[in-house]
Amino acid sequence: MEKILVLDFGGQYDQLIARRVRELHVYAEIRPYSSFSPSDIQKEGYRGVIFTGGPNSVYDPSSPRCGASVLDSGVPVLGICYGAQLIAFMCGGEVAAAENGGEYGRTLLKTEEHALFRDVPAESVCWMSHTDRIRALPPGFRITASTDHCPCAALCCDGRKLYGVQFHPEVAHTQYGSTVIRNFLFDICGCSGDWNAPDHAGELIERYRSRLSGRKVLLALSGGVDSSVAALLLHRAIGRDLTCVFVDHGLLRKDEGDLVENTFRRSFGVNLIRVNAEDRFLQKLAGVTEPERKRKIIGEEFIRVFEEEAKKLGHIHALAQGTIYPDVIESGKGPSAVIKSHHNVGGLPDRIAFDEIVEPLRDLFKDEVRGVGETLGLPRELLRRQPFPGPGLAVRVIGEITREKLSLLREADAIFREEVDGAGLDRAPDQYFAVLTDTRSVGVMGDAGTYGFTLALRAVTTDDFMTAEWTKLPYDLLERVSGRITNEVPGISRVVYDISSKPPATVEWE
Ligand code: XMP
Repeated sequence: MEKILVLDFGGQYDQLIARRVRELHVYAEIRPYSSFSPSDIQKEGYRGVIFTGGPNSVYDPSSPRCGASVLDSGVPVLGICYGAQLIAFMCGGEVAAAENGGEYGRTLLKTEEHALFRDVPAESVCWMSHTDRIRALPPGFRITASTDHCPCAALCCDGRKLYGVQFHPEVAHTQYGSTVIRNFLFDICGCSGDWNAPDHAGELIERYRSRLSGRKVLLALSGGVDSSVAALLLHRAIGRDLTCVFVDHGLLRKDEGDLVENTFRRSFGVNLIRVNAEDRFLQKLAGVTEPERKRKIIGEEFIRVFEEEAKKLGHIHALAQGTIYPDVIESGKGPSAVIKSHHNVGGLPDRIAFDEIVEPLRDLFKDEVRGVGETLGLPRELLRRQPFPGPGLAVRVIGEITREKLSLLREADAIFREEVDGAGLDRAPDQYFAVLTDTRSVGVMGDAGTYGFTLALRAVTTDDFMTAEWTKLPYDLLERVSGRITNEVPGISRVVYDISSKPPATVEWE
């Protein structure tokens, strides 16, 4: 089988690189730089190697490196961002902090004639995110692309089959990113693209049936796409041996608890326990304002609730979770820098009273998870649900969480979602929700002054949630939403629209 090695130096887009390669029907394997030796290239028969980006500076002696012989193995190497700088540095070039502070976001890229840029116009848009730059080329290399602020946006040494790009071809904002990756795979590495993604559903059902049959498994069902797919998958594998616990932590959206309960218990016959735990979560969160503390508290409380349910059920062998690959990466389980801890992988206390944790979707990308869900017959409205963070509305109430604030947010959020859903947009935003800020402002209603909360509306368009653009919602829709919220939700006197993209902002406010 043709294989590409994605050597992970801690970049945030590593999984996207692998995904882009797999979309082109070439199998890609991600491995951390630390557990890799150059001789593995021949042993494993990799056709090419991609060095990922990473947050470090190559001139820092403690920065992640790999054995120099990788570059002389004869197998083509493409370095992306940090990866490109590493190739330049290891081959005798010079890398330094960019004088102008680097480049960030959409940037005009000018490319030269080169195999890597076949079918890429001389000028196109690329995505940049770097503070260092290649200042002097290594001997034998030439520049193949530039931008206004980065004279060396791509470099190559064809004789040694070494290539580097300072921009990120793997993110959707790079107009011809997929073309660049295709050129590397097919023209430079000589791959033929004969690999097809396996039937994940069948494979996973079989794997977990033989691994867990006859053992009791408890699953945390939130009603989101991931835990729903994990629940159905395990339900198919082990039937009544799976118990799903749905914790209503009081931080859910309007009517969400009932929807989840009805769908899973009635339609799918899943063995489901709903735990109404609002009081204990809100008690623990009282007075807490720091976002990471909120996430930790909620994560730990979740696990305690499960432990208690497990005790009631007798011996439970495993705790199952709907963790998917992006959660693993973003939580810093790999070498990537921690952006935010996600409760479903980050907050597990060490003393957990289960024999093992089962995460059947851990290696899958979101679209692969949806594919599994589709195969299992999960209804479209559940499969296409917008993501909702595990800590729920706790990270959308800025500052201290109170029942009153949660109730304001729930009503306003329901209005916003209802209006967006009913607006008949050509493309709905991929995620849209309301955030209750902790800012109050002066307003006027009738003849009386008011001093209510400021509510923010957030809507983003994205392919992968790793990068996102704020959605240009029509003004008349925003006007309707604002009018309805300020009229129908007493306590909110001002509505603002968030016009920040990711990066530098994140999708959630906390
Ligand atoms: P950010 O805010 O990191 O969000 O740009 C990217 C995506 O992840 C979701 N998100 C979370 N999901 N637990 C989750 O399960 C969390 O703590 C969490 N924080 C963010 C977010 O809603 C968006 O879809």
